[in-house]
Amino acid sequence: METNGLDGVRELCRRVLEEEAGAHGWDHAERVWRLCRHIGALEGANLEILELAALLHDIGRAEESASRGKVCHAVAGARRAANILEQKGFSSETVARVTHCIASHRFRGENSRPQTLEARVLFDADKLDALGAVGVGRAFLFAGEVGARLHNPEVDIAETRSYSRQDTAYREFTVKLCKIRDRMLTETGRRMAEDRHAFMVSFFRRLDLEVRGDR
Ligand SMILES: [Fe+2]
Ligand SMILES: [Fe+2]
Repeated sequence: METNGLDGVRELCRRVLEEEAGAHGWDHAERVWRLCRHIGALEGANLEILELAALLHDIGRAEESASRGKVCHAVAGARRAANILEQKGFSSETVARVTHCIASHRFRGENSRPQTLEARVLFDADKLDALGAVGVGRAFLFAGEVGARLHNPEVDIAETRSYSRQDTAYREFTVKLCKIRDRMLTETGRRMAEDRHAFMVSFFRRLDLEVRGDR
């Protein structure tokens, strides 16, 4: 017998996302879920909507990979989440509120902008998981996957390419991750991003000094 309610969704997400190795698997979903509970409580969001959205937010990843990036996992994930929630007996209002969060969690163009507090919290939680000590760890895991070097202080970052041996954690931070703190949508998210950002700056400064033999 399948469990219904939040626990049922949690079990299903664990089963599906554990198959997905790497940066967007179950570990990521669980961290985003914890961040959502923390930020959501401080911001006064509806935690039932938020927890469901957090657990399900990357459920469309497999579809995106299978299409080699043609299908957006936020759009595919919202569709798949709607089916799951309907099957598990959630009301149509809950389904609509949760799927809006999922569909807008990537938010690049104006048309996918998060419209609700829950969607803004999920967006911030998902971005925060790329920052701080977790962000450093994830950046090195990814660098390891593509066979990148530990650090490349002598290389001009502008000349390097992603998915190459020069695609180091430091490059990832300099090119992408250092811009995330300017994109936060809630007050709590902004505060946490600022703190996590500062930690990464000091980590990479220290790494640089150590690699140069100065510390
Ligand atoms: Fe995502
Ligand atoms: Fe995510």
